[in-house]
Amino acid sequence: MKAVVLEKQGEIKFKDVPMVGQMGPSAIRIKIKNVGVCGSDVHYYTHGRIGHYVVKKPMVLGHEAAGVVVEVGSDVKGFKPGDRVCMEPGIPNGRSRAAKLGLYNLDPDVVFWATPPVDGCLIEEVAHPAEYVYRLPDNVTLAEGAMVEPLAIGLQAAKKARIVPGDVAVVSGAGTIGIMCAISALSGGCSRVFITDAKKEKLAIAASYPGVTAIDITREDALKTVLAATDGWGAEVVIEASGAPAVYPGFAQFACPGGKVVLVGIPVDPVPFDIALLQSKELEIASVFRYANIYPRAINLIASGKLDVKRLISKVYPFEKSIEAFEHAARLEPDIVKIQIELP
Ligand SMILES: NC(=O)c1ccc[n+]([C@@H]2O[C@H](COP(=O)([O-])OP(=O)(O)OC[C@H]3O[C@@H](n4cnc5c(N)ncnc54)[C@H](O)[C@@H]3O)[C@@H](O)[C@H]2O)c1
Ligand SMILES: [Zn+2]
Repeated sequence: MKAVVLEKQGEIKFKDVPMVGQMGPSAIRIKIKNVGVCGSDVHYYTHGRIGHYVVKKPMVLGHEAAGVVVEVGSDVKGFKPGDRVCMEPGIPNGRSRAAKLGLYNLDPDVVFWATPPVDGCLIEEVAHPAEYVYRLPDNVTLAEGAMVEPLAIGLQAAKKARIVPGDVAVVSGAGTIGIMCAISALSGGCSRVFITDAKKEKLAIAASYPGVTAIDITREDALKTVLAATDGWGAEVVIEASGAPAVYPGFAQFACPGGKVVLVGIPVDPVPFDIALLQSKELEIASVFRYANIYPRAINLIASGKLDVKRLISKVYPFEKSIEAFEHAARLEPDIVKIQIELP
């Protein structure tokens, strides 16, 4: 079947390959309908690697997907052909120590779509274990279903922050992940979220959510703004979502005494962090690696109408124009949040 394959760094082909995943009694076969293009897909395309994950052989791209069930394994209950679903891209070993602890995202043997050498979901059909397939309510579209994956990162950050109603949050970086963190913090009970970036177009999209205040770091001293807005106290929750090395040394300054620092952005190289500053305020640090047990919550929040992800879909390309979609994403235009690919 047709798939979008990263042959090697800088070369994507639209070609025929076998189905991704294996059908069996506990699996579901799904016709893929919508796939989001993620920063990581683009990075494998442009750089051929992320950290120690290196593209050494052709790999199907994509991990943010929604689709329609076409076949249900004999042991699977609760699904039928025609169901609209979205899928968690990471499949852990369910018997692993991490999985037994409920930390299945941290299973060292997790198999994650489009993380070399594992094939992703930009293909006509996949087979996927039923426990990582989630039905979409009638009022959630397939396009929204494909936004659940990046939203789940933001919600994992909000969960790790243990937000208390009325907390003030600061998020650095207004990319897809930063915006997801900001709206997740709001839906978790924050009264106000400040978000920083140097790109005014991204900030404008973030600030279109009531409760989010944009800080353009090219024009404003972000720390001054946050301290002025909190009577000099600082924010209860600060979420790093840019991965930009420049942010880390002073990031804890945004937090109030006893506040929480949540690390979501992944700096490419080790970065300096001011430990003494952390200690002087007894800040708690939490870090995020993907998510566990978050998809149902993300879907419920979208279905409730409390959390709008539709406005973050900047452009949709048809499947056969997937290569154009990746070229567009690789231009990193400031007004693009999420590019999606729609399959027939
Ligand atoms: N922890 C996880 O599980 C997880 C999952 C997905 C992505 N990530 C990481 O999250 C980060 C963000 O991902 P993304 O897809 O949104 O990337 P992105 O490139 O779309 O967004 C990053 C944003 O940070 C902004 N930025 C750069 N320097 C800044 C600074 N000094 N202050 C404030 N903002 C600044 C950029 O302008 C950009 O808008 C990346 O590091 C990515 O690797 C982590
Ligand atoms: Zn992603």
